[in-house]
Amino acid sequence: MEMESSNPPKIVCFMCNWAFCEEEMRVPYNVNIIRVMCVGRMDPALVLETFINGADGILLVGCKPPDCHFVDGNLHAERAVKMLKKLLALAGLEPERLKLLLVSPLEYKGFSHYAKEFSEEVWKLGNSPLGKEELLANLTAAKEAASAFRLRVLLGREEELTEFMNAYGVKISEEEFNALLDDVVRAEFIRYKIHYLTRVKPRSVKELAQILGIKPSAVLRHMTNMRRKGMIALDHVEGYTPLYKALEVR
Ligand code: FES
Repeated sequence: MEMESSNPPKIVCFMCNWAFCEEEMRVPYNVNIIRVMCVGRMDPALVLETFINGADGILLVGCKPPDCHFVDGNLHAERAVKMLKKLLALAGLEPERLKLLLVSPLEYKGFSHYAKEFSEEVWKLGNSPLGKEELLANLTAAKEAASAFRLRVLLGREEELTEFMNAYGVKISEEEFNALLDDVVRAEFIRYKIHYLTRVKPRSVKELAQILGIKPSAVLRHMTNMRRKGMIALDHVEGYTPLYKALEVR
Protein backbone atom coordinates (compact mmCIF):
# COMPACT_ATOMS: atom_id res chain seq x y z
CA MET A 1 0.00 0.00 0.00
CA GLU A 2 1.88 3.05 -1.23
CA MET A 3 -0.50 5.84 -1.89
CA GLU A 4 0.77 8.99 -3.54
CA SER A 5 -1.07 12.02 -2.33
CA SER A 6 -1.58 13.23 -5.91
CA ASN A 7 -3.27 9.97 -6.95
CA PRO A 8 -6.66 8.86 -5.70
CA PRO A 9 -6.60 5.76 -3.47
CA LYS A 10 -7.24 2.29 -4.86
CA ILE A 11 -10.65 1.23 -3.61
CA VAL A 12 -12.07 -2.27 -3.89
CA CYS A 13 -15.79 -2.70 -3.39
CA PHE A 14 -17.37 -6.07 -2.66
CA MET A 15 -21.02 -5.52 -3.49
CA CYS A 16 -24.02 -7.71 -2.87
CA ASN A 17 -25.79 -8.66 -6.11
CA TRP A 18 -29.02 -7.11 -4.86
CA ALA A 19 -27.65 -3.70 -3.89
CA PHE A 20 -27.73 -0.93 -6.53
CA CYS A 21 -28.84 -1.98 -9.98
CA GLU A 22 -26.09 -2.25 -12.58
CA GLU A 23 -27.67 0.05 -15.21
CA GLU A 24 -27.95 3.01 -12.85
CA MET A 25 -24.43 2.77 -11.49
CA ARG A 26 -21.70 5.26 -12.28
CA VAL A 27 -18.42 3.98 -10.90
CA PRO A 28 -15.43 6.28 -10.24
CA TYR A 29 -12.31 5.05 -12.08
CA ASN A 30 -10.35 4.36 -8.86
CA VAL A 31 -13.04 1.96 -7.61
CA ASN A 32 -13.13 -1.72 -8.58
CA ILE A 33 -16.39 -3.54 -8.00
CA ILE A 34 -16.64 -7.26 -7.32
CA ARG A 35 -20.16 -8.61 -7.14
CA VAL A 36 -20.93 -11.24 -4.48
CA MET A 37 -24.14 -13.20 -3.86
CA CYS A 38 -24.56 -11.64 -0.40
CA VAL A 39 -22.22 -9.45 1.63
CA GLY A 40 -22.53 -11.97 4.48
CA ARG A 41 -20.82 -14.56 2.25
CA MET A 42 -17.58 -12.56 2.22
CA ASP A 43 -14.71 -14.41 3.86
CA PRO A 44 -13.00 -12.00 6.34
CA ALA A 45 -9.61 -13.45 5.31
CA LEU A 46 -10.30 -12.36 1.70
CA VAL A 47 -10.78 -8.76 2.85
CA LEU A 48 -7.34 -8.80 4.49
CA GLU A 49 -5.83 -10.53 1.45
CA THR A 50 -7.16 -7.63 -0.65
CA PHE A 51 -5.32 -5.15 1.59
CA ILE A 52 -2.15 -7.28 1.23
CA ASN A 53 -2.57 -7.07 -2.54
CA GLY A 54 -2.50 -3.29 -2.44
CA ALA A 55 -6.01 -1.92 -1.82
CA ASP A 56 -5.98 1.38 0.09
CA GLY A 57 -9.60 1.05 1.16
CA ILE A 58 -12.34 -1.58 1.00
CA LEU A 59 -16.04 -0.88 0.80
CA LEU A 60 -18.50 -3.68 1.53
CA VAL A 61 -22.01 -3.03 0.24
CA GLY A 62 -25.01 -5.09 1.27
CA CYS A 63 -28.78 -4.85 1.80
CA LYS A 64 -30.29 -2.92 4.68
CA PRO A 65 -32.04 -5.13 7.28
CA PRO A 66 -34.49 -6.78 6.90
CA ASP A 67 -33.87 -7.08 3.16
CA CYS A 68 -31.07 -9.69 2.99
CA HIS A 69 -32.07 -12.49 0.61
CA PHE A 70 -30.22 -14.93 2.84
CA VAL A 71 -32.06 -13.72 5.99
CA ASP A 72 -29.17 -12.43 8.10
CA GLY A 73 -26.14 -12.11 5.80
CA ASN A 74 -26.00 -8.36 6.47
CA LEU A 75 -25.92 -8.91 10.25
CA HIS A 76 -23.21 -11.50 9.81
CA ALA A 77 -21.23 -8.94 7.78
CA GLU A 78 -21.62 -6.38 10.59
CA ARG A 79 -20.07 -8.84 13.04
CA ALA A 80 -17.24 -9.72 10.64
CA VAL A 81 -16.46 -6.02 10.04
CA LYS A 82 -16.29 -5.41 13.80
CA MET A 83 -13.63 -8.15 14.08
CA LEU A 84 -11.79 -6.99 10.95
CA LYS A 85 -11.53 -3.43 12.25
CA LYS A 86 -9.91 -4.72 15.45
CA LEU A 87 -7.43 -6.75 13.36
CA LEU A 88 -6.63 -3.77 11.11
CA ALA A 89 -5.89 -1.60 14.16
CA LEU A 90 -3.54 -4.29 15.53
CA ALA A 91 -1.87 -4.52 12.11
CA GLY A 92 -1.20 -0.75 12.18
CA LEU A 93 -3.77 0.28 9.56
CA GLU A 94 -6.59 2.70 10.25
CA PRO A 95 -9.89 0.77 10.75
CA GLU A 96 -11.58 3.56 8.71
CA ARG A 97 -10.05 1.99 5.59
CA LEU A 98 -12.82 -0.60 5.82
CA LYS A 99 -16.47 0.40 5.61
CA LEU A 100 -19.73 -1.51 5.52
CA LEU A 101 -22.60 0.18 3.73
CA LEU A 102 -26.07 -1.33 3.97
CA VAL A 103 -28.52 0.17 1.49
CA SER A 104 -32.17 -0.25 0.72
CA PRO A 105 -33.33 -1.03 -2.84
CA LEU A 106 -35.11 2.34 -2.70
CA GLU A 107 -31.82 4.16 -2.09
CA TYR A 108 -32.12 7.61 -3.62
CA LYS A 109 -28.39 8.46 -3.55
CA GLY A 110 -26.52 6.64 -6.32
CA PHE A 111 -23.49 4.43 -5.76
CA SER A 112 -21.06 7.10 -7.02
CA HIS A 113 -22.05 9.37 -4.10
CA TYR A 114 -21.00 6.75 -1.52
CA ALA A 115 -17.94 5.66 -3.52
CA LYS A 116 -16.62 9.24 -3.79
CA GLU A 117 -17.34 9.95 -0.12
CA PHE A 118 -15.42 6.83 0.99
CA SER A 119 -12.60 7.47 -1.47
CA GLU A 120 -12.10 10.97 -0.01
CA GLU A 121 -12.09 9.60 3.55
CA VAL A 122 -9.37 7.08 2.60
CA TRP A 123 -7.38 9.69 0.65
CA LYS A 124 -7.21 11.89 3.76
CA LEU A 125 -5.63 9.02 5.72
CA GLY A 126 -2.58 8.99 3.41
CA ASN A 127 0.00 6.21 3.46
CA SER A 128 0.49 3.78 6.29
CA PRO A 129 3.39 4.91 8.52
CA LEU A 130 4.64 1.29 8.60
CA GLY A 131 7.36 0.04 6.26
CA LYS A 132 6.42 -2.43 3.50
CA GLU A 133 7.92 -5.45 5.32
CA GLU A 134 6.26 -4.72 8.65
CA LEU A 135 2.91 -4.06 7.02
CA LEU A 136 3.10 -7.33 5.11
CA ALA A 137 4.01 -9.24 8.31
CA ASN A 138 1.15 -7.62 10.22
CA LEU A 139 -1.49 -8.07 7.54
CA THR A 140 -0.45 -11.69 6.98
CA ALA A 141 -0.74 -12.34 10.74
CA ALA A 142 -4.14 -10.60 10.76
CA LYS A 143 -5.35 -12.67 7.79
CA GLU A 144 -4.25 -15.94 9.36
CA ALA A 145 -5.85 -14.94 12.68
CA ALA A 146 -9.12 -14.20 10.84
CA SER A 147 -9.02 -17.73 9.37
CA ALA A 148 -8.26 -19.29 12.76
CA PHE A 149 -10.83 -21.73 14.09
CA ARG A 150 -11.14 -19.95 17.46
CA LEU A 151 -12.11 -16.59 15.96
CA ARG A 152 -14.50 -18.10 13.44
CA VAL A 153 -16.31 -20.02 16.17
CA LEU A 154 -16.53 -16.99 18.45
CA LEU A 155 -17.87 -14.82 15.65
CA GLY A 156 -20.45 -17.42 14.69
CA ARG A 157 -21.68 -17.65 18.27
CA GLU A 158 -22.10 -13.93 19.04
CA GLU A 159 -25.86 -13.93 18.57
CA GLU A 160 -26.30 -17.12 20.57
CA LEU A 161 -24.14 -15.82 23.45
CA THR A 162 -25.61 -12.32 23.65
CA GLU A 163 -29.28 -13.02 22.79
CA PHE A 164 -29.95 -16.36 24.42
CA MET A 165 -28.99 -18.11 27.63
CA ASN A 166 -26.29 -20.76 27.36
CA ALA A 167 -26.48 -24.27 28.88
CA TYR A 168 -25.74 -22.75 32.33
CA GLY A 169 -28.58 -20.24 32.07
CA VAL A 170 -26.14 -17.35 31.54
CA LYS A 171 -26.49 -14.62 28.92
CA ILE A 172 -23.54 -12.28 28.34
CA SER A 173 -23.93 -8.58 27.59
CA GLU A 174 -22.77 -6.90 24.37
CA GLU A 175 -19.94 -5.19 26.32
CA GLU A 176 -18.78 -8.49 27.81
CA PHE A 177 -18.79 -10.07 24.36
CA ASN A 178 -16.79 -7.16 22.91
CA ALA A 179 -14.21 -7.43 25.70
CA LEU A 180 -13.94 -11.19 25.04
CA LEU A 181 -13.59 -10.58 21.30
CA ASP A 182 -10.86 -7.97 21.96
CA ASP A 183 -8.87 -10.49 24.02
CA VAL A 184 -9.23 -13.33 21.53
CA VAL A 185 -8.45 -11.14 18.48
CA ARG A 186 -5.33 -9.75 20.16
CA ALA A 187 -4.10 -13.18 21.32
CA GLU A 188 -4.65 -14.76 17.88
CA PHE A 189 -2.96 -11.82 16.14
CA ILE A 190 0.15 -12.08 18.37
CA ARG A 191 0.33 -15.87 17.91
CA TYR A 192 0.16 -15.61 14.12
CA LYS A 193 2.70 -12.78 14.15
CA ILE A 194 5.07 -15.03 16.15
CA HIS A 195 4.32 -17.77 13.63
CA TYR A 196 5.12 -15.45 10.69
CA LEU A 197 8.35 -14.20 12.30
CA THR A 198 9.64 -17.69 13.13
CA ARG A 199 8.81 -18.86 9.60
CA VAL A 200 11.41 -16.43 8.29
CA LYS A 201 14.12 -17.72 10.69
CA PRO A 202 14.38 -19.36 14.13
CA ARG A 203 14.14 -16.77 16.92
CA SER A 204 14.49 -16.56 20.70
CA VAL A 205 11.78 -15.47 23.12
CA LYS A 206 13.77 -12.31 23.90
CA GLU A 207 14.03 -11.33 20.23
CA LEU A 208 10.33 -11.94 19.65
CA ALA A 209 9.45 -9.87 22.73
CA GLN A 210 11.52 -6.97 21.37
CA ILE A 211 9.90 -7.09 17.93
CA LEU A 212 6.38 -7.43 19.34
CA GLY A 213 6.90 -4.85 22.09
CA ILE A 214 5.57 -7.16 24.80
CA LYS A 215 7.14 -8.85 27.85
CA PRO A 216 9.11 -12.11 27.34
CA SER A 217 6.77 -13.76 29.87
CA ALA A 218 3.80 -12.88 27.60
CA VAL A 219 5.62 -14.33 24.56
CA LEU A 220 6.29 -17.51 26.55
CA ARG A 221 2.60 -17.85 27.44
CA HIS A 222 1.63 -17.55 23.77
CA MET A 223 4.33 -20.01 22.77
CA THR A 224 3.13 -22.59 25.28
CA ASN A 225 -0.30 -22.37 23.65
CA MET A 226 1.25 -22.55 20.15
CA ARG A 227 3.35 -25.59 21.05
CA ARG A 228 0.22 -27.35 22.30
CA LYS A 229 -1.45 -26.67 18.95
CA GLY A 230 1.60 -27.80 16.96
CA MET A 231 2.27 -24.30 15.58
CA ILE A 232 5.86 -23.95 16.80
CA ALA A 233 8.78 -26.11 17.97
CA LEU A 234 12.30 -25.82 19.35
CA ASP A 235 14.78 -25.56 16.46
CA HIS A 236 18.16 -25.46 18.23
CA VAL A 237 19.98 -23.92 21.19
CA GLU A 238 22.62 -21.20 20.79
CA GLY A 239 24.76 -21.03 23.93
CA TYR A 240 22.01 -21.19 26.56
CA THR A 241 19.34 -19.61 24.36
CA PRO A 242 16.65 -21.80 22.76
CA LEU A 243 15.53 -20.70 19.28
CA TYR A 244 12.11 -21.61 17.98
CA LYS A 245 10.75 -22.10 14.47
CA ALA A 246 7.24 -22.24 13.06
CA LEU A 247 5.63 -25.52 12.04
CA GLU A 248 3.13 -25.75 9.23
CA VAL A 249 -0.39 -25.16 10.53
CA ARG A 250 -2.92 -27.74 9.31
FE1 FES B 1 -27.76 -8.52 0.07
FE2 FES B 1 -27.53 -10.55 1.84
S1 FES B 1 -28.50 -10.56 -0.07
S2 FES B 1 -26.76 -8.53 1.99
